[in-house]
Amino acid sequence: MKPRHFLTLMDLSAKEIKRLLARAIKLKAMQRRGKKHMSLAGKTMAMIFEKSSTRTRVSFQVGMAQLGGTSLFLSPRDTHLDRGEPVEDTARVLSRMVDVIVIRANSHAMVERFAAHSRVPVVNALTDLSHPCQLLADIQTYLEKRGDITGKTAAWIGDGNNVCHSWIDAAHQFSFHINIATPNGYEPKAEWYAACRDHVTLSHDPKQAVQKADIVITDTWASMGQEHEKAERMKAFSGFMVDTALMKLARKNAIFMHCLPAYRGMEVAAEVIDGPQSVVWDEAENRLHAQKALLEFLLASPSKK
Ligand code: CP
Ligand code: NVA
Repeated sequence: MKPRHFLTLMDLSAKEIKRLLARAIKLKAMQRRGKKHMSLAGKTMAMIFEKSSTRTRVSFQVGMAQLGGTSLFLSPRDTHLDRGEPVEDTARVLSRMVDVIVIRANSHAMVERFAAHSRVPVVNALTDLSHPCQLLADIQTYLEKRGDITGKTAAWIGDGNNVCHSWIDAAHQFSFHINIATPNGYEPKAEWYAACRDHVTLSHDPKQAVQKADIVITDTWASMGQEHEKAERMKAFSGFMVDTALMKLARKNAIFMHCLPAYRGMEVAAEVIDGPQSVVWDEAENRLHAQKALLEFLLASPSKK
């Protein structure tokens, strides 16, 4: 039987994601009550990270430990991946030894190649094109703070990057609208939103994008791997900072989200990320709970799903 992978938010049905998020909220409550839940005892997770991480790495490792499983952190430098062992061979070997493989990769194509040769579920922990685990936590956070996201309006301000792509997938899965305001030339990839066009409005005007928004979201202007473009990007993104004046144009009870790490004074003003509309710390914490639910979903026996 082919394993279920989680490479984009579209790999699960809307119904499965909703069930998974309900489970995440339950696991969070159990954790808060100090109730132990060892549903993945005896399971092993390998983590291959080609890029830095604070939240994703810690939340996956801690989550697996809380569920009674074990994890191995594998930096490509310490494996043969960096010495030219093919991705396909690495996938074949690792997937005969572990139960799930979590990968943060420079290129989305690498994760797809890995998954195509893996006997066990592969999870995308961020690539150049998407960050689906982040969206599980983000939608969980919206659900906890404001309820169902269906029919709401999100505003993405800044770079049309990997996290923006996953927000587009979420708009499709949860039937909400996303207004995306980017500088010219920094739009999300057209092929990514082709299937979700009805849920997406593109513009180059942050003020227009936040009108009637229930959520305002941004992310760094220079993602990992784009450090060499930083100076050029700082110029291009001038006028795209989410500040109090911009938040005032959104709905009164709008919340502010950011996947973190954040750069105050660049994509977001300190007064917004540290202000009352910001939910970024809950969003970060929910990475743990949502990914525990994801691991359970991918590793539980079919009868338990
Ligand atoms: N948001 C997020 O994925 O953070 P890390 O890069 O710290 O994992
Ligand atoms: N867009 C950012 C997200 C970091 C979690 C990056 O790819 O670096």
